[in-house]
Order: sequence, then C-alpha cells, then structure tokens
Amino acid sequence: SYACLKVGFSKIPEVDLPGHMQAALAAYPYLGCTGGPYEVWRMWGVSEEVLCAGNDSVLTFIDDVLTEIMEIFPSEYIHVGGDECPKVRWEKCPKCQARIKALGIKGDDRHTKEEYLQSFIICHAEKFLNEHGRRMIGWDETLEGGLAPNATVMSWRGEGGGIEAARQHHDVIMTPGSAGMYLDQYQGDSKIEPVTIGGYATIEKVYNYNPVPDTLVATGKAQHIKGVQCNNWSEYMYNTDLMEYRMYPRMLALSEIGWSPLNRKDYKDFERRLDNALVRLDEHNINYQIPQPEQPNGSSNFVAFTDKASLEFKTTRPVKVVYTIDGTEPTAESTVYSAPIEFTESGILKIRSVLPSGKMSKTRTITVEKQALAPAKEVAKTTPGLEMQVTDGMFLESSKLADVKEWKKSTMKDLRELTSVVKSSESMRGVKQYAAVATGYVNIPEDGVYYISSDNEEVWIDGKLLINNGGEVKRFSRHDTSVALAAGLHEIKVVFLGHIIGGWPSNWNDGSVKLRKADAKKFTRITPEMLVH
Ligand code: ACM
Ligand code: ZN
Repeated sequence: SYACLKVGFSKIPEVDLPGHMQAALAAYPYLGCTGGPYEVWRMWGVSEEVLCAGNDSVLTFIDDVLTEIMEIFPSEYIHVGGDECPKVRWEKCPKCQARIKALGIKGDDRHTKEEYLQSFIICHAEKFLNEHGRRMIGWDETLEGGLAPNATVMSWRGEGGGIEAARQHHDVIMTPGSAGMYLDQYQGDSKIEPVTIGGYATIEKVYNYNPVPDTLVATGKAQHIKGVQCNNWSEYMYNTDLMEYRMYPRMLALSEIGWSPLNRKDYKDFERRLDNALVRLDEHNINYQIPQPEQPNGSSNFVAFTDKASLEFKTTRPVKVVYTIDGTEPTAESTVYSAPIEFTESGILKIRSVLPSGKMSKTRTITVEKQALAPAKEVAKTTPGLEMQVTDGMFLESSKLADVKEWKKSTMKDLRELTSVVKSSESMRGVKQYAAVATGYVNIPEDGVYYISSDNEEVWIDGKLLINNGGEVKRFSRHDTSVALAAGLHEIKVVFLGHIIGGWPSNWNDGSVKLRKADAKKFTRITPEMLVH
C-alpha cells in the first residue's frame, strides 16, 4: 500500500511491511514462510501471507526496497507500516521459530513471541533508515512487542496507541478511524452514496476531531503530537472521481484541524466559508461531494403508500434542496423543499441539492406508488423454514441459474444459512463457490408498508422482483424498496450468488433480509419464526 501525508512540506511514502505484502510474495515467493506459490490478493481484507521473519533474504529485501524508496522520496520520514500482520504463518514456520529461539525471545502476558518477532523486523527497518539519516513512522501495532527506539507512531485504532506512545516519549501522528479520520468511510446515507468500507464520517465529524488528547495536555506530553492525518484507502475507490469525492470537501476540515488552535475552531463558521472554498475547488474541476437529500430512516427510491405518503428529507449539512413532481429535471429555480412533500396519488419525485454557487447534486428520482395491500395467501399446511436449492459454481448473474440442471435440495431455518452452505474464510482460498435459492412464505406481522433491505443478489415477494443487487458490490444495498403487504403469508424467494465483485466476497455477508415498517426507525431481520414452506 502507499499513503501520503504532508509534514514539513514533503511527501512521505509508506511501504507496508511485514504484512500487506502478498503482491511482493507473488513476485518473490521465497520471501514467504511457505514458499508459495502465491497469487496477487484480489479481495479486500487482511491476508495471512506475510514476509517470513526468519529469512535473512527478507531483511535484505527490506533494505533494498527502502533504499529505492529513499532514492525516490527525499522526505525526512519514511512510513514502514507494521499494521495488520497476522502471525499464523510465523507460529508454524521453522525459520521464524528458529529466529525467535536465536534471539532468545519469550512470550509473556503482554505480548506473544511472534509479536516480539514483529518488533525485531520493524527495529531492523528503523535501524537501516536511521543509518541513512531518515526517521521511521509505524502504525500503532508497532507498539506490540515494543516500539523501535526512535519510532514515530501513527495511531489509527483509536487514540490509545498514540497516547501510549507519547507516554513512552515517542512522537505521534493521530489518525483514528473512530473519530472521523478515515475518508474511505461514508459521508452520507449508505443507501444512496457510492459503496464504501462502512463507517460514518461526516465533514462535521472530521472538523470536530481534536488531535491533541486532553490527557496528554494534562501530563505535559502534548508536544509529542506532531500532526494529524486522514486516510483515504482505495478499496472502494474504483476510479479517480471517487477518490476525489471521498477526499473533498472533508480534506478542508482536516487542514483546519491541523492548523487551527482549539479555541479558534468554529464549525458553523467553517460551514459558511466552505461555500467559497467549493467554488475554488470548481476551478480545479474537483469532484467533491455535494450532500444529497436523504430520507430520515434510510433512503429508498421507491416509496409505496396506501392512503397518503409524506416524504421527508434531510441533508448532512445545510444546503438548499429543490424538487419537481412533473417529471422534469429540477433546476436551481425549482420549488424549494421546506416541509415534507405529500402524495395522495402515484407520482415521480425528482429531488436534488443546490449549492450557493448554483452547482447541483445528482438528481434522485423517487417513484411514489399508491398500492392496495397485497393480500396474504391461504396455505393449508405449512412447515417451518424455507426450501433451499443449491448448485455448485460461481455465478456472476442470476440469469445464468436458468441453465443449471442439478440442484441439491434441502430446507433451511434461517435466511443466514444462505451464505453458510460452504463455510467462507478470511482468505477465501479454496472456498468452493455456489449459488442458493430459498423459497417459501414469510409471515408478515401486520398490515402496512414495509421497506426491504438485503445484500443478497435478489429478493422476490409475491412473485415480484423487489430487490435486485445484480452486478453490484454486495455491501450496504443501494436498492432498498418498499411494498404494501397485508398481514399473513406472502411468497418469498431469496437468491444468493457466491462471488467476488469489486473486491468483496458476497459469501462474507450474513444472508439476511431486513424489513422496516414505514413508520419504524430501524430495520430488523426476517427471523426463522416468520418463515414457512
Ligand atoms: C490501517 O488502516 N490499516 C492503518
Ligand atoms: Zn517464516
């Protein structure tokens, strides 16, 4: 991986070691504990294949890579990573265990011997960098097994690592993901924003972060906080537009928390100044995020109703919202949203935000449909659970299931079984892909309009395809819908396809389908008690 931050006006590179190295192992298999062969990692998550800490040629490799990095980057600091390095290979590797023995490393109640071994690797990298006049940065995992003597620590798993490092008189850069410093997290409603890794970091959350913890001020250690960083990891940035979208405008908030004394911070004032800053970003053609109108309990572009629909909207920061109900594209001059929009007949709502500069967000097109409650089915005799059929193989689209000749039939109790027919693993190595279809009835508890959400491929109710996540990264479904249902049994069919799209194995999902009654705030899972066939 490669990250950049600015300290003293020079770009600092990160070479992540000894974990996050599977691409290097694919090229140089002898650097791994097992000797490979390895393939370049094609999914998100953390690989257990790491550099072998018992192999001297790994130390030479690290020196060689750092030498090349130092040639390219004149920065005083070089970041060597050190995060997310599973130790499962080291625990079994004769070379790693021999190194542990040779170094006289013993595990204790604070750290395993493999954690101390990681410290040996990081200390090696630091010594090499220091000998060449450079300083080392490492992630907070480098505290485990003991910090390298001169290391600067980057605290990402909360502030705890950074606080501990400062207590040990080490310099620190704060970048806690829990406090808004991860720009790869959502900055708006996941149901309409481009897919991300998860989390929620609005521009206000970024702005409100204070990188100098009170406890370090109180103990006279605040001078060890050298700076603050936001991370913009690119797993879910499939193009440059998305990269800019995640960075801006939140990077402006980061800048301000980096250079403003605490007593001069004022979010409302920042928000006011943001409008001018965005005009400047326009001069650079930067694809910054414009808050979209969002529905309060989860956005949906299909709103069913029986008597009357009242569509309420909010935005993550105050921006003007305009809309039409005649099918035309809203312009800056269209009706301004000021109160919930009421529908008593079916219609189309087109709604978008407009900035003071006149620049507009994408348009959300929301179908508003008057429905009669779909009647429940009378079924003479039912058995708990759903019928399930499973077929081996990797399917990227459900249409291909039509050609399947052989299905294994069984029954399932819980929709979550859809994704656990074959156990998935962190590495997905050797996991046999399959598709599964569950059919039967869902018992709807009471009359009403229900919102439906699922990360499965498809959800059908009463023979209608209501959720279709076809072709999408199967996380945080952006295809929620709603339907008016009478209390009682309704046909349900749920399709799961095991595959990797956009780096995300759908097998890692929990197979669930969630419902939210229109007047409820939260989605809840369809439970086994609601399923029969
Ligand atoms: C990190 O986000 N793994 C530093
Ligand atoms: Zn090893």
